[in-house]
Amino acid sequence: MKALIASGGRGTRLRPITHTRNKHLIPIANKPILHYAVEAAAAAGITEIGIVINADSDEVPVAMGDGSRWGVTITYIPQLTPGGLSQVVALAEDFIKKDKFIFYLGDNMVVGGVKRFIDEFEKSDSNCYLTLAKVKDPERFGVPEIRDGRIVAVEEKPSKPRSSFAVAGIYLYDHHIFEAVKAITPSARGELEISDAHQYLIDKGYTVGYTEITGWWKDTGKPNDLLEANRLVLDNITSSIQGDVDARSAVAGKVIIEKGARVINSVVRGPAIIGEGCVIEDSYIGPFSSIGNNTTVRKSEIEYSIILRDCKILDIGIRLEGSILGNDVEIVEATGKPKVHRFLIGDQSRVEVV
Ligand code: DAU
Repeated sequence: MKALIASGGRGTRLRPITHTRNKHLIPIANKPILHYAVEAAAAAGITEIGIVINADSDEVPVAMGDGSRWGVTITYIPQLTPGGLSQVVALAEDFIKKDKFIFYLGDNMVVGGVKRFIDEFEKSDSNCYLTLAKVKDPERFGVPEIRDGRIVAVEEKPSKPRSSFAVAGIYLYDHHIFEAVKAITPSARGELEISDAHQYLIDKGYTVGYTEITGWWKDTGKPNDLLEANRLVLDNITSSIQGDVDARSAVAGKVIIEKGARVINSVVRGPAIIGEGCVIEDSYIGPFSSIGNNTTVRKSEIEYSIILRDCKILDIGIRLEGSILGNDVEIVEATGKPKVHRFLIGDQSRVEVV
């Protein structure tokens, strides 16, 4: 059993954060999303992992390395342009060969790992095994039609979904998937859809099994999904205080304060994580906040937010909530007269003011 992880694409729905960073390297609870996928594969006993990357960038290989830190070997497979998930699979044929494999979309997160799905797939006589999750908005996903306990059709982003399930981005295949991804043609949006490859397998009489994901699963395609994934991961952390918390501060709930961080005259209410070298002074850090390394927060309040590294949030009179800040972002009090909001914001940013 091998693993194939997708980390290409353009991440347009996460701009401006993805102008300067591959979306799979955005941290959730201070750890890149892609780490969760590699860790899940490694925890399931897989040692050979292929990661499909954008051919024009070495960002992912530089960040992830050769896999030795997880005890696995990572092979990078370049994709020239994001031509769809069936193209991603087709590109990996030389790496996968005749092995069975798990195909994991690098922007998906699931609690409880993937071993259960692999075991079920190995026991079943399926050629393809899909993981399904109940969602409120199936039209955003690949959607199965299920009749008498069997998947009879899969449609990509249907306007009239035929069930309330999404096909999650964790798929298990034998080598017949390569026949499927080579047989299909691009969809109306110009992509080789993975749902069309699944439909091909069904039409050709191959066995397409499925299981339901009962715990939480997230596709982190949009900003709110990132905040939700961050909330869910933080909910499961174990407290660890390695930085300094002074006597005037109060820390409550599950909180990680990494080494070199200082909390001065502040309240930190978990679940929350404060990265290495941060300074939190005269401030409030509320539940579901991840603060990246070397960020300074002074006389300010933050809750339910993802703040990346080296930010400065100083003396602001409103609480930041539901916010995502990239690296090196400054939000500071406007001084002098007249009293105004002053912005210096890059392309495709979004600010909400009261
Ligand atoms: O998250 C589950 C959904 O993922 C499924 O329900 C859909 O059937 C499936 O098509 C996919 O839909 P998305 O619209 O979420 O796919 P997205 O374009 O966001 O790409 C998913 C991942 O694959 C993401 O990590 C980027 C990567 N990717 C995508 C494309 C199109 C590549 O590496 N190369 C590509 O060409």
